[in-house]
Amino acid sequence: MIILGIETSCDDTACAIIQASGQIKNPKFKILANVVSSQIKIHEKFGGIVPSLAARTHWKNIIPVMDQTFKKAKKKFQDINLISVTKGPGLPPSLVSGLNTGRLLSFIFKKPILGINHLEGHIWANFLYEVYEAKPRKHKELKFPALVLIVSGGHTELILMKNHGQYKIIGQTRDDAAGEAFDKTARMLGLGFPGGPEIAKLAKIGDPTAFELPRPMIKSKNYDFSFSGLKTAVLYLLQNLKIKPMSRDINPTPHTIYPNLAASFEQAVVDVLVSKTIRAGLSFKVKTILIGGGVAANQKLRETLKSKIEKELPKTVWLFPEPKLTTDNGAMIAAAGYFNWLKKKKSDDVLKLEPDANLRLE
Ligand code: KG4
Ligand code: ZN
Repeated sequence: MIILGIETSCDDTACAIIQASGQIKNPKFKILANVVSSQIKIHEKFGGIVPSLAARTHWKNIIPVMDQTFKKAKKKFQDINLISVTKGPGLPPSLVSGLNTGRLLSFIFKKPILGINHLEGHIWANFLYEVYEAKPRKHKELKFPALVLIVSGGHTELILMKNHGQYKIIGQTRDDAAGEAFDKTARMLGLGFPGGPEIAKLAKIGDPTAFELPRPMIKSKNYDFSFSGLKTAVLYLLQNLKIKPMSRDINPTPHTIYPNLAASFEQAVVDVLVSKTIRAGLSFKVKTILIGGGVAANQKLRETLKSKIEKELPKTVWLFPEPKLTTDNGAMIAAAGYFNWLKKKKSDDVLKLEPDANLRLE
């Protein structure tokens, strides 16, 4: 079936058209078009997302993004079998633009519509890599119980999946999300927004052992996280050493203060995320580990987690999404839509689709 995915939960206006077939256990996806219009340039000067500006920009961009998606996919609206749209969690003013666009299309063209949980979308991004290869690769099978680490700008969660669609949040952040910590620390260092990729780039030429930063809650018995103390530790370090934010027009020399700070911070975040994921993997005897959300694009996190799984959980299969598909996109919402369609084969009531800020997986 042909599915239109719409995602506007935060600051990316995203639409995608995918072709989906197969059963829940063995789904096959082909991305026909995946268009993301980023609002980074707009929010950059504020160092974070401004909700009212984000909503206004979604309204401006959603039709051109949709138009480009259909042109790229060489499809007409009549070809669509299902509309899949993010209903939460996210910023309510942003969600409304995608939801209302989807509702209207569903109403006018009499197409079924499903409201999708954004986090479930990040989980389904793990199944979308085939598009980048000439020959479809056989999926690594998702065996249960599975563990998902969601790390994005708004979420840091460890989710235990007993089966498809059965999610239990076993740990989450008590304050800042991992991506938020990257963004706020980048801002303190004078780097651009979003901070994650900026810190990761700078960290590549830094020494991760240069500064001793805390690993908050790494030893706690639960699976919760906390990142605000780490961010504050960086702030105190900058104040104590009287370091000013980095000037953007200089090219830092390897192993100097800014690259070293970036690398030490990145290492601290990765250590905590990997340690808790491995510990949860061991105690719940999981057979698959998946990751999702923007921070899952981080190379250090991917490599460290991969090697720790291979060493400490040799029977566990890791399943990571393409780095490009870890950040918000419409294809992941369309893929999650396919799964929900197979499960319930019933359209949501378009008139009842409302953004709910508290919407959770469980
Ligand atoms: O999933 P996402 O696109 O949006 C939300 O649902 O929040 O995640 C965005 C977050 C931002 O905080 C950004 O700094 C972070 O993902 N991010 C990264 C990297 N790429 C994006 N963090 C660390 N390393 C990266 N390479
Ligand atoms: Zn996201």
